[in-house]
Amino acid sequence: MCGIVGILGSKPVATDLVDALRRLEYRGYDSAGVATVENGHLERRRAEGKLRNLESRLLTEPLTGRTGIGHTRWATHGRPTERNAHPHMSAKVSVVHNGIIENFRELKAELTGKGHTFETDTDTEAVVHLVTEEMQGGRGPIDAVKAALGKLKGAFALGIIFAGEDDLMIAARQGSPLAIGHGRGEMYLGSDAIALAPFTDAITYLEEGDWAVMRRSGVEVFDRAGECVKRPLIKSVASSLLVDKGNHRHFMAKEIHEQPDVISHTLSNYIDMANGRVNFPDLGIDLTKISRVTISACGTAYYAGLVGKYWIERYARLPVEIDVASELRYREAPLPEGGLALFVSQSGETADTLATLRYARANGQRIASIVNVRTSTIARESDAVLPTLAGPEIGVASTKAFTCQLAALACLAIALGKARGTIDEALEQELVTALVEVPRLISSMLRDEEQFVELAQMLSKARDVLYLGRGSSYPLALEGALKLKEISYIHAEGYAAGELKHGPIALIDENVPVIVVAPEDDLLEKTVSNVQEVAARGGQIILISNANPDKIGCALAAHITAPKAHALTNPLIYAVPVQLLAYHTAVFMGTDVDQPRNLAKSVTVE
Ligand code: G6P
Repeated sequence: MCGIVGILGSKPVATDLVDALRRLEYRGYDSAGVATVENGHLERRRAEGKLRNLESRLLTEPLTGRTGIGHTRWATHGRPTERNAHPHMSAKVSVVHNGIIENFRELKAELTGKGHTFETDTDTEAVVHLVTEEMQGGRGPIDAVKAALGKLKGAFALGIIFAGEDDLMIAARQGSPLAIGHGRGEMYLGSDAIALAPFTDAITYLEEGDWAVMRRSGVEVFDRAGECVKRPLIKSVASSLLVDKGNHRHFMAKEIHEQPDVISHTLSNYIDMANGRVNFPDLGIDLTKISRVTISACGTAYYAGLVGKYWIERYARLPVEIDVASELRYREAPLPEGGLALFVSQSGETADTLATLRYARANGQRIASIVNVRTSTIARESDAVLPTLAGPEIGVASTKAFTCQLAALACLAIALGKARGTIDEALEQELVTALVEVPRLISSMLRDEEQFVELAQMLSKARDVLYLGRGSSYPLALEGALKLKEISYIHAEGYAAGELKHGPIALIDENVPVIVVAPEDDLLEKTVSNVQEVAARGGQIILISNANPDKIGCALAAHITAPKAHALTNPLIYAVPVQLLAYHTAVFMGTDVDQPRNLAKSVTVE
């Protein structure tokens, strides 16, 4: 993963590079660095840990170059130390890199044999020595990079500057996104347009295999074959006001509270509110003839997809296969003729999801994607894009993107059911009305946040926490456990309530809180039996439900009252309490809520 920036500026660029890196911290934040061309030679400053450490370093040891690159890292090869932080460099070349150079061991052996000394444990350093080697062989910087690119294997994005070249930067994209920003007498490079938003909204996205020669006066783009190509100049909508927490202490809190608004926006994209109808975009495939839907995604987006499976099967009576992208892509799953492949991704850049999309395309599927970033690679490679209108999500733990994905999936399930005759007009109206009520119901839950603060204290003492749910609440149990472990570092697992007795029940004693997601629906009775099995073994039950606790028939450690909602919309409603539980537990424990250790927002490596 990692974030890349580059500036060919008209004044010293170090401060602007750091400013852009701040917007890329979602891609990784375990170390950072910048390098500039200083009076003809290359200089760099790097620091372990958060960006503020690099900022302090630059205060005491400033850089004044007008040509520079910067990097924020999520370690793949080598520990997150200053020595392994980017930019990596030789006397001639400095490189920032996102992704993985798969053949770096072979390259390192070859280059070491030619006298190059490697100083780091990173794969990136192979690129530095490879380009340097080409230059020592007599090539100029552009030809050297061109030759080096031909020898690199893997998925990567690169930004490269050179000693003695104040008006040159080379960018290359193979599998990891890169945006070039056009300024007045300045040029910019970034992992995304958001990083460049304060400088310019005129953006050119590099396509797969492209590499670009950037100068202050403009950019020349070449494709994999070395042909000079034209890529469109797009006006980016990324706003420069994005990194603002408002009145909230964390981005995650802000994003949890934004949910009523952003779900509403997303729904209005798919629903004709006035007539209570779903107004779904054309997917370019006859919905009545789809043989199967195959859903794939990673992390939280996968859990949204899992809810989608329950909905599509229930309301459209259409078979759905779902798997995490990292498995689906490698198990060579046979995909049916006339199938729709659906990908769910906040960033639209997740490497495994993208690779699975390409697998599905190669296997004749119609490709639709639910993405939050419309300019993303997944969006651009899809036949049909179903946008979520969550706005930028900065907190690494996904919240509002998840519920917006659910909103889009619910509308898709209704559209499929309608087309296939399993949903009549009356049911459509009922379901749409239920969806339209979701923002109001979530707002009402958000007004009652205090109870989560108390519960957080109890959870913070636990070593293990179990989450249980049945039916479409099962993915919520999985998501609840994921949220808690990723930001509080407490071990948590989600289970289908019926699976409890097949293993996890062995873990239960009076020290294990068991969080039960159990809306009052046709499955409640079954879940109640599982809750009693927990109670009989002394487990601490925290019930999240709109049902009267008397119906549970055993003592509860706590009861979070959810509003009564339609069975369709319960997953949207119950997402909020599981988010708030995780959030307040993390706050109570004093962890880094928005940037939890070892994680990153956008995962562009396998
Ligand atoms: C990372 C993030 C998760 C996210 C997952 C998939 O692991 O930390 O929050 O759910 O990637 O990301 P995507 O952008 O594809 O939704």
